[in-house]
Amino acid sequence: MIDLHVHLLPDLDDGPSSIADSLETARLLAGAGVHTVAATPHVRVDYPSEPTAIDRGVAALRTAIAEAAIPLDVLGGAELSFEQLRRPTAELRRFGLAGNPSLLLVETPYLGWPLALERTIFDLRLAGFTVVLAHPERNPDVQGDPVLVERLVRSGTLVQVTTSSLAGVLGNRARETALELLERDLVHLVGSDTHGPDGRALGAEPVRRAVGDRALVRWLTEDSPAAIVAGRRVPLRPDPIRRRRFRRPRGGRGWPR
Ligand SMILES: [Fe+2]
Repeated sequence: MIDLHVHLLPDLDDGPSSIADSLETARLLAGAGVHTVAATPHVRVDYPSEPTAIDRGVAALRTAIAEAAIPLDVLGGAELSFEQLRRPTAELRRFGLAGNPSLLLVETPYLGWPLALERTIFDLRLAGFTVVLAHPERNPDVQGDPVLVERLVRSGTLVQVTTSSLAGVLGNRARETALELLERDLVHLVGSDTHGPDGRALGAEPVRRAVGDRALVRWLTEDSPAAIVAGRRVPLRPDPIRRRRFRRPRGGRGWPR
């Protein structure tokens, strides 16, 4: 699996607090079948990680991972909060996801749906950026109306849902919404958003358990993220007609149509 949303650098945000924690997380990721990650520390008011510190952190972690013989390739990146998108274009490019300066991982607000979100993302597209929207399934407005995400996707935004959402670890609403977005063909990749050895669901197996379709799981965890990082078009999603195989959460309500 290629996991493009991981808090893996020590002492930059609410991720690992030491290099030992980072290495432990890297071991867990590799053990779950992840071969490549993008380290994506928060860039927001409470964790104002700067590109120089991120680059330094990635270089140091790559060295430590090589010395520890952990089979995990670590690329750079960042998870930008909505307010950070006002930065000048040249600055934003330095936060490019997985080293692609045109790709920005943007944190969906946990509360509310900013009126300016759509316009801001549109303006970023005009400036040559592609936005990867992180875990919209955790936002209550999206949970109430998943179609909010559709307009963004139709205008070129890519969507990452979180493995633990699909696994039900983050609550039934997040799980149902993640499945609903998948059913509506509004998801392009899955990422763990792990913050250290924190018990989050890792790797492709929890995705397979939630989705049940191996070809789709491969697309979500390998083929699509590989294309996104390379700046290629996301390959055609396999077998969209058989979407109804997604497993409904036990005891959950049905998906709204
Ligand atoms: Fe995150």
